[in-house]
Amino acid sequence: MDTTDIENRLKTRPLPKHVGIIMDGNGRWAEHRGLPRVEGHRIGSDSVREVTRCARRLGIEALTLYAFSSQNWARPAEEVAALMDLLREYLLKERTEILSNNIKLNAIGELDKLPRYVREPLEALRAESASNNGMTLTLALSYGGREELVSMARRIAEQAKSGQLEPAAVSEALVDAMVWTAGLPAVDLVIRTSGERRLSNFMLWQTSYAELVFSDILWPDFRARELCECLNAFQTRERRFGQTGAQVAQVHALPLRRTSS
Ligand code: IPE
Ligand code: IPE
Ligand code: MG
Repeated sequence: MDTTDIENRLKTRPLPKHVGIIMDGNGRWAEHRGLPRVEGHRIGSDSVREVTRCARRLGIEALTLYAFSSQNWARPAEEVAALMDLLREYLLKERTEILSNNIKLNAIGELDKLPRYVREPLEALRAESASNNGMTLTLALSYGGREELVSMARRIAEQAKSGQLEPAAVSEALVDAMVWTAGLPAVDLVIRTSGERRLSNFMLWQTSYAELVFSDILWPDFRARELCECLNAFQTRERRFGQTGAQVAQVHALPLRRTSS
């Protein structure tokens, strides 16, 4: 089956609204070939383009890509600098494609830590694409889930201290609105490449009920076909949200009702 057939089949069943990808394995991909690690990051940006295009074709509402973690600042300075250069290059090169495909570019993380030469094209594209509504592509940059929760807690504490917020008004909905992903749906599916099976500080609040799919493929080799395989795996899962399998089956057996959403 070619990828068009695979994509058409995926579209006949429910797809995740929000997919998060931990793009891992660039360094190993390069090392296996005797290349400098940065070559893995470079080819990895081709995977970013292909995977984004495929998600857009499928009509996925939100795609969040973990590109650089708060902890990644601890890598050797040359690698960090090369990653920042590639990020700038990506933002400049992908601008036209993002805008012409009605993609809204968003970013989460401690963005003030990014160098100005990355922050500037990032903010420019964010502003230019702000009214697009085709798919929200969020780059997690200098991002950490624990850092995000600390920032959320601090803002809630400040509002409570100044009398703007009653402690009793703190709810899940309020936390949703105070984390960096405010406005995005909950994450339904997390994909991690390269065979590692951990979250590495990725969207700790947003993934509370996400399905986790791990792929052994290294990120530079992960393209549209591999994304489709992970989406297919998602579609075979039964999401129970605390209920029993029988309860979930009963809901599916009910005749379709019109809903407002
Ligand atoms: C993912 O690939 C990219 C970033 C974390 C920035 P890695 O660079 O972590 O690749 P491995 O895990 O060392 O192979
Ligand atoms: C997670 O990958 C961060 C990104 C993919 C950006 P890492 O390669 O940094 O994760 P660990 O350190 O192996 O957990
Ligand atoms: Mg890694």
